[in-house]
Amino acid sequence: MNYRHRYHAGNFADVLKHAVLLRLLAGLQAKEKGILYLDTHAGRGGYDLTAAAEGLSRPREPEWPAGVGRLWGLADLPAELRDYVEAVRAFDREARARTGGGGDAGAGPRFYPGSPRLAQASLRAQDRAVLCEAQPEEAAALAEEFAGSRRVSTQRMDGYTALRAMLPPPERRALVLIDPPFESQDEWARIVEALGEGLRRLPGGCFAVWYPLTARARVDAFYRQLLGLKGLPPCYTVELLVGGEEAGLKLWGCGVLVINPPWESAGPLGEMARWLAPVLAQAPGATGGVHWLVPDN
Ligand SMILES: C[S@@+](CC[C@H](N)C(=O)[O-])C[C@H]1O[C@@H](n2cnc3c(N)ncnc32)[C@H](O)[C@@H]1O
Repeated sequence: MNYRHRYHAGNFADVLKHAVLLRLLAGLQAKEKGILYLDTHAGRGGYDLTAAAEGLSRPREPEWPAGVGRLWGLADLPAELRDYVEAVRAFDREARARTGGGGDAGAGPRFYPGSPRLAQASLRAQDRAVLCEAQPEEAAALAEEFAGSRRVSTQRMDGYTALRAMLPPPERRALVLIDPPFESQDEWARIVEALGEGLRRLPGGCFAVWYPLTARARVDAFYRQLLGLKGLPPCYTVELLVGGEEAGLKLWGCGVLVINPPWESAGPLGEMARWLAPVLAQAPGATGGVHWLVPDN
């Protein structure tokens, strides 16, 4: 497990994933009944972006300036992104105050919230969160970050095992975020297997899976495997390409698969991805949108 999210925090992939996450949570919270938010691959909760520029042996190019950094000074954000940027600002403000970090928030964030902190900030009194992380250092940082929190518990464990262990929850309602590092080739197969198991345990649960776009054939195979799941409920993908497949970027885009999406969430998320594409573009061919795999009708 070599992956460390601190190098990538706030990049274009985080922008898409975290903005989608907040929209899904808000959509599920349209109903009064409480939900479980299960983050199978949680990371450490929040990140100091100054660490993003410090590699293990030599300085690294931080990724956040081409992600959340490009949204920072914009006054005319579309409605779908305002909550996300405001949540990042609030986390940054609070972390600066807590650490005596001071500095000029006008130049860009110094601290960036991971999915756990973003979700936590959205929880209502009737909601709760379970955050899982397998890498020992990250898991320790996560546990420290949420020590004493009433509605949030952290687990040092394999995220796929957690999915089996935690579902179905007593609430019978859940948003499950699966956001693995894709370090091994069998990650795609493990996701499909976990989704099959998760849907068997909680057929109406909302499952969101982040995935990288590095090879279209790989993603097409993933869709085919998903469609092979018996009784796959309505689902769509929200994709953001920061450059065309031919543009020579290693990671030319990413997507979030959403199974059992909240009512009428596809339209606004499609708008959001289309708006983000030119703003976060790194090469010609940037585009974004929603594609239904199993239509909701
Ligand atoms: C992409 S990062 C998560 C980022 C986080 N979800 C966010 O949006 O802020 C993936 C995380 O999964 C952790 N990880 C790797 N293998 C895991 C496993 N089998 N179970 C749980 N966590 C794992 C890595 O250590 C890493 O922190």
